[in-house]
Amino acid sequence: MTDAAAPPPAAPEAGPTAQAFARLMQAHRSIRQYKPDPVDSAFIDRVLTEAWAGSSSSGNLNMVSVVKSFDAARRAHLCTLHAGQPMVRQAPLVLTFCADTHRTRQWLAQRQARPGFADFHSWHVAAFDAMILAQTTSLALESHGLGICYMGTTMSSMRTIADFLELPPHCLPVTSLVVGWPDEAPAQRDRLPPQAWIHEERYHRPTPQDIDTHFAQREQRGRERYLAVGPEMVTAWQQHGITSLAQYYTSPIKYDPDVLAENSAAIEAVLRERGFLAPG
Ligand SMILES: Cc1cc2nc3c(=O)[nH]c(=O)nc-3n(C[C@H](O)[C@H](O)[C@H](O)COP(=O)(O)O)c2cc1C
Repeated sequence: MTDAAAPPPAAPEAGPTAQAFARLMQAHRSIRQYKPDPVDSAFIDRVLTEAWAGSSSSGNLNMVSVVKSFDAARRAHLCTLHAGQPMVRQAPLVLTFCADTHRTRQWLAQRQARPGFADFHSWHVAAFDAMILAQTTSLALESHGLGICYMGTTMSSMRTIADFLELPPHCLPVTSLVVGWPDEAPAQRDRLPPQAWIHEERYHRPTPQDIDTHFAQREQRGRERYLAVGPEMVTAWQQHGITSLAQYYTSPIKYDPDVLAENSAAIEAVLRERGFLAPG
């Protein structure tokens, strides 16, 4: 039985491993400029294997696949599928993390088991595992001094990337990492403060004052950073009548809700085609 009046246990003191890990996480930056130096394929296999050991897997089903793209010509094509983001071409490696129930379904069939994992729930199970592995891999790669950047364009180009990588049914890309040796040392990006997103026992709904306080630093730094991109960005903000970071985020030049609605419909259609959603 626990004593409700007992003081909470003291926080454990950070040992050397915890301190090194905290430093590693504090050093994280998304890298968008890479040296041409290659990355070794066998080394990447080792890092991925270690990262997978360090990642939980729903039901230990292991419904993920990772496709390594080293070949320059293939990366150049992937670059076009990733909306021309230059680091896809520039970095020596692209890792595409896939939600994959294809292999598991094949195993079930070969063992005369009841078919399964061809549904929306299984899509989420496999997609979450793929994201967990991607993030563990990111930290593992960064621990070796490599740089990474996630490619959110994987979602909007799901079908074309799946075709290009010759993914089977019940297997779709969830996210990608470009990987290589950093050729830039960007400043650390700010995050919302802990009070904004860590809740005690129950969700604390933000008041208008909370929103003002919690977003103040992001609004200032984000606005400064975007407007420092170049005069074209300043002109674009003026042309679209954007006066704040919030307005920028849902403007036609960032995350346009109309475009996201189109993307959402396209993702739904791909999930149907590839067997994760019942035919409409
Ligand atoms: C799922 C996901 C998708 C992302 N997609 C892109 C992308 O397509 N292009 C890009 O330049 N950065 C992308 N990023 C990187 C974010 O912009 C970056 O993590 C964020 O600005 C915080 O910066 P930091 O990672 O340096 O701390 C993505 C990050 C995540 C988690």
